[in-house]
Amino acid sequence: MTVRIGTPLQASATRVLFLGSGELGKEVVISLQRLGVEVIAADRYDHAPAMQVAHHSHTINMSDPEALRQLINEVKPHLIVPEIEAIATEVLLEIEENNIATVIPSAKAVNLTMNREGIRRLAAEELGIATSIYRFADSLDSFRAACDDIGYPNFVKPVMSSSGKGQSRVTSFQQVDAAWEYAMQGGRVNQGKVIIESQINFDFEITLLTVRAKNPETGKIETHFCDPIGHLQDAGDYIESWQPQPMSEAALIESKRIADKITTALGGCGIFGVELFIKGDQVWFSEVSPRPHDTGLVTLASQFQSEFELHARAILGLPVNTKRHSIAASAVIYAGQDADNLTFSNLEQALAHPDSDLRLFGKPEGFKRRRMGVATARAASVEQAREQAQHTAGLVQVEQA
Ligand SMILES: Nc1ncnc2c1ncn2[C@@H]1O[C@H](COP(=O)(O)OP(=O)(O)OP(=O)(O)O)[C@@H](O)[C@H]1O
Ligand SMILES: [Mg+2]
Repeated sequence: MTVRIGTPLQASATRVLFLGSGELGKEVVISLQRLGVEVIAADRYDHAPAMQVAHHSHTINMSDPEALRQLINEVKPHLIVPEIEAIATEVLLEIEENNIATVIPSAKAVNLTMNREGIRRLAAEELGIATSIYRFADSLDSFRAACDDIGYPNFVKPVMSSSGKGQSRVTSFQQVDAAWEYAMQGGRVNQGKVIIESQINFDFEITLLTVRAKNPETGKIETHFCDPIGHLQDAGDYIESWQPQPMSEAALIESKRIADKITTALGGCGIFGVELFIKGDQVWFSEVSPRPHDTGLVTLASQFQSEFELHARAILGLPVNTKRHSIAASAVIYAGQDADNLTFSNLEQALAHPDSDLRLFGKPEGFKRRRMGVATARAASVEQAREQAQHTAGLVQVEQA
């Protein structure tokens, strides 16, 4: 079967529906646009980044099953690309089951990874992959007991949350009740359940971008790896990333083995961000995103095909090339204030260095810790690239108009 792409906005169009239209989706949409795909972007608010580069957009509540069904019915997409986790995933299972559209990478992957319990039990209990020690709790009493069981410090995370929301690092029994309160407020859907994880004392953490794509000759799905991406996290949010992260041969082999195992179990085609903790030759699995990863923004500067192009190609059934051409780094640009209608200036200074670049996401509203853009830089070493990316990011002035 050869891949055939139609003409956008005509009867032959290849239609892709994005559920979630953030900055990562925006880059994937641009990659799909370059291949003549018709793109429909949805999110819960107007003028989201990916909506601004799509053919059509819809503002809906994607966690409402009826609203989601109606949208899919109206759009009739060939592919559905979930870009966020807060989606009525039961609808996606239904869609896949009835062959209405292909869910990227698979309804199973989207369903399992939206809940920390699903993916953790699959990795640790079914696949036997090394993880932190963990317990689940759904009441204050069971939470107190689990914390004491795991010991301190530990990490507490609502099972339905991302980007550090409701998460805390608990260092003693005195902090336990406050951590429970905080988790209950920060969960996405008030599910009332948390995971308690032992702290892994890693040397560094990586994202191993893993692509499942069809081999053009055999038609079989093969697994490809990008070079490991190192990153720095602050309060559950990435602030800096770089590629490649130097690591031992043994740790790299083990990382790839784990990434292959977990992504094979999740199935489908597309890119996955496999988050791993590394200490010497030892590797622990943390979590996985069945989509481009925020730390992978660095690949815009480091690879022939960025993680976004890789995703676009893989989901269309096209071959991929995960090769890196440069050492590069990325640094996040925050709004630094709660305001809309922001302006970005001092850009000529920020971009004065020939190996630096910027993405400004065009989000209509900013708040203090909202990511509004990213700076990237290429250099001869990881240290220099990190320094330059931070320098570039720091030069961008974000102000109210
Ligand atoms: N068990 C652990 N041991 C040590 N560090 C941890 C542990 N769990 C989480 N962390 C730290 O907290 C960060 C965020 O954790 P995690 O990735 O689970 O949360 P998240 O909300 O899904 O974040 P994101 O959406 O940004 O990926 C990790 O990247 C790591 O730096
Ligand atoms: Mg994470």
